[in-house]
Amino acid sequence: MLDQALDEIKTSPNLPALQDLRVKYLGKKGLVTEQLKGLGSLEPEARKLAGQEINKLKTVINDAIDAKKAELELNALNEKLEKESLDVTLPGRHYSPGGLHLLTQVINKLSDVFRSMGYDVEVGPELEDEWHNFDALNTPGWHPARDLQDTFWTTDGRVMRTHTSPMQVRYMETHKPPFKIVVPGKVYRNEALDATHEAQFHQLEALVVGERVTLADLKGAINQMAIALMGKGTKTRLQPSYFPFVEPGAEFAIWWTHPRTGKEEWLELGGCGMVHPNVFKAVGYENVTGFAFGFGIERLAMVSYGIPDIRYFYQSDMRVLEQFRGVL
Ligand code: DAH
Repeated sequence: MLDQALDEIKTSPNLPALQDLRVKYLGKKGLVTEQLKGLGSLEPEARKLAGQEINKLKTVINDAIDAKKAELELNALNEKLEKESLDVTLPGRHYSPGGLHLLTQVINKLSDVFRSMGYDVEVGPELEDEWHNFDALNTPGWHPARDLQDTFWTTDGRVMRTHTSPMQVRYMETHKPPFKIVVPGKVYRNEALDATHEAQFHQLEALVVGERVTLADLKGAINQMAIALMGKGTKTRLQPSYFPFVEPGAEFAIWWTHPRTGKEEWLELGGCGMVHPNVFKAVGYENVTGFAFGFGIERLAMVSYGIPDIRYFYQSDMRVLEQFRGVL
C-alpha cells in the first residue's frame, strides 16, 4: 500500500487531487485509518507492533502529501508570477494622440481673434426657414440672387442654410443693439462637386450694429482680423460688389504672401457691406447702422496650408488629417 500511495502522491497533478488522496488514505474512512480500526482484534504484543507500523505508515504518507502540497503550491505561484510578470525593459506601447480637425482649429483661432476684439461667438441652426435664409435678408422669391444659392429643401419647405447670414436676422430678432457678434458654422449648397466646390462647407459671419457704425468701422474690423491672422502690416482692400442684404456692398481681399509660391498677391476672401435698411426693417430695428461680412473658412484654410482640394476636408483620410494635427 505504501508504494502505491507514494506513487499516487508523486503523480498527483494538482491540489484538489492531492486533497482527494489525503482523504483516501488518512481520512476518517481512509485506508490507513481502516487498518487502525482492525488492531482491536490482535494480541497486545502484536497490536503494539502493528500499531507502530501503521503509525509509521501514516507519518510517511502524511509527510509525502505535505511535501507534494508545498511543491504544487510553489508551482502555482511560479505560474502566476510568470503570467503577471512585467518586463520593464520592453518598449512602451504607442498610442497616437488624437487631434482637432484643421477646420476646427481654424474656427477656434478665428473665434479667439474675434473674442479678443470684443465680439461674442454665436451659433445657429443649419436647417433654416426661407424667411431667415432669404426673405428677411432682402432676397425675396423673385430675386435673381437666389439662383446663386441653390440648395437643399425639405418637403415641408425648410432649407439647409446657404450661408451663415440668416443668423444676423435671428440674433437681431432676440437682441437689442449695440452688439458685435461672429457666427461660425456649416452651410450647404447644391453644387457640382470639384476641387473647389463642396455641397457642405463652413463660413464665418460677422455682424456689428449700433449708433453711427460706419464703413470705416467695417474696414477697420477687416484690417484687424487680417493682422491677427497674417501678422503686422497686412493690408486689406474693399472692391465694390453686390449682395442683397448690404448697401453699399463689397468684396474684401487681403494682401498677403502666398505660403507656397512666396508671391505677394490679393487673396479675395469674402463679402461685406453696410446692413441694408430692409434687413433692419425686417427685424424692427430703427435709428441704427451696422456692418456685416462673411467668408468661407475652407478657402482660408486651403490657401493658408496649400490644400489643393476642398474634398480632402471631408474624406477622413488620416494621411491628410495627420499633417494638420496641432498646427494652430
Ligand atoms: N452670405 C454671403 C455668401 O454666402 C457672404 C456675405 C456677403 C456675407 C456680404 C455678408 C455680407 O455678411 O455682408 O455669399
